[in-house]
Amino acid sequence: MMIRYVFRNRFFSHLYLLFSITACLAAKSLEKPKSKSLALLDEVIGELSPYHMVTADYKDGKILFKSDKDYKEAVSVGFFRIPIPKKIDAELLTKFAENIHPYAKEHKIGKLNVAEGFLESENNQTDRLTFERSNWAPYYPKNICEMGERLTKIATDVLLSIFEKIGIPKKDYAKASSGCSKNQGSPYLLFNCYNRDKSHCPFGVVPHADWSFVTLLLAWQAGLQAKIDGVYRPLVLEKGYLTINFGTPLERLTQYTKNPVKASWHRVKRQKKSDRLRTSTACFLDPNLLGNVHIYKKGKLISSMPTLDFFAQESNKIYKGQ
Ligand SMILES: [Fe+2]
Repeated sequence: MMIRYVFRNRFFSHLYLLFSITACLAAKSLEKPKSKSLALLDEVIGELSPYHMVTADYKDGKILFKSDKDYKEAVSVGFFRIPIPKKIDAELLTKFAENIHPYAKEHKIGKLNVAEGFLESENNQTDRLTFERSNWAPYYPKNICEMGERLTKIATDVLLSIFEKIGIPKKDYAKASSGCSKNQGSPYLLFNCYNRDKSHCPFGVVPHADWSFVTLLLAWQAGLQAKIDGVYRPLVLEKGYLTINFGTPLERLTQYTKNPVKASWHRVKRQKKSDRLRTSTACFLDPNLLGNVHIYKKGKLISSMPTLDFFAQESNKIYKGQ
């Protein structure tokens, strides 16, 4: 979910827009299917064996895996799930996402357009509304802002639970999380509504890895696929569960540890006109955009890099197809 805007100031807004456009163009050129037959693509994708994510519990602000084996699988695949916590109103978020639609540009929160976080992608079937936290209050209704804060807290708890598993000292949490442990990260709250009329798109969402430490995803209509052992497999989504995946800043941070965390590449299958309307809500726990990202090696945080430079590097990787 690369396409996001930073409204904190005009400079970052334009810089991020540049990254987003580069990423989209790259994805478009790289991911165009060799076969012109989208029907054949659908057929091939449909044959892959589904993957059942590891289920963990979330209790007292901590993620609890049922076994060490489950933890290792979750970080090596890059996806796992937890039951949706009671404080998250999934129905509210889903209904809100259903309104992110080109036919609903006169939304109750105002006229929707690119400058106000609304994006109608040419490469993805999704119509999306997304804001960084500093812009939630001016644009999202109060109850949606509240959900954003609660999701951010859960994402932070996931990140710190991983830190604990890795053995990062607590004194280094703020630096390692680029401020997230002190609620000073740059979380985004994104709503996707899939436009089934965009039948020319090869994918619902093109393949990508997230730029967040941790992503929380509320979606249960089929279509999400993750690259596991080199092959894209459909993830089994069920109502009542929150899907969690890891992004590139966490992969970078943990690459030299015993159990590196994978930023799994994933995509969403093209939605056909006959499919049920697919929506999703995502909360991205991004590093502080004005801060730095790090690598943890042999008990020390090394290789500090400005977050925005790191994002530029990630954009280049997509462009080169790495
Ligand atoms: Fe994503």
